[in-house]
Amino acid sequence: MKPIYVFFTALAFGASAFAHGNATGAVLERMEGMKSIQAAMKLLGKQAGTNDAFDFSAVNAAATDIMHHANEIPAVFAEKDLSMPTEAKAEIWEEMDAFNKLAAALESAAQIAANAQNADELKSAMGAIGETCKACHSQYRIKN
Ligand code: HEC
Repeated sequence: MKPIYVFFTALAFGASAFAHGNATGAVLERMEGMKSIQAAMKLLGKQAGTNDAFDFSAVNAAATDIMHHANEIPAVFAEKDLSMPTEAKAEIWEEMDAFNKLAAALESAAQIAANAQNADELKSAMGAIGETCKACHSQYRIKN
């Protein structure tokens, strides 16, 4: 497996291994947003692996979904809520500008994926998207 797939497989496993059924309010809302982003990434990952059946409109829809959720990150993280079972670090609310910049970087990277014309272009766009997930999680998420 290429490193990019190992990374996304690890993310997928991480989400299923830890249930967050008792999250509420702002914490639940931002976790749901992240889960939608992850679901869209899975769909993109499948498309990145198929040169023959590349489906531009499916790719465009999934990448647009990521853009939409990335755009909402500043709003869903606006309230400082560290209720359990959050994995958010308190530093987010001390470094809101830097945090929101990473959200904007995700949105731009997803915009490039939305315009990918084939699996290779999508693969490289996904690499750039993955860098933004990693950068933000390593700084602002307890478990990454
Ligand atoms: C701007 C920062 C930022 C970016 C960019 C980001 N994340 Fe997150 N992500 C977080 C934070 C913070 C949490 C922890 C939220 C919490 O537990 O309250 C999180 C949590 C998650 C979770 C766990 C959700 C749950 O149910 O607990 C998944 C899955 C996830 N992110 C996937 C992704 C993927 C995939 C990407 C890239 C496509 C991404 N994230 C990009 C900040 C970010």
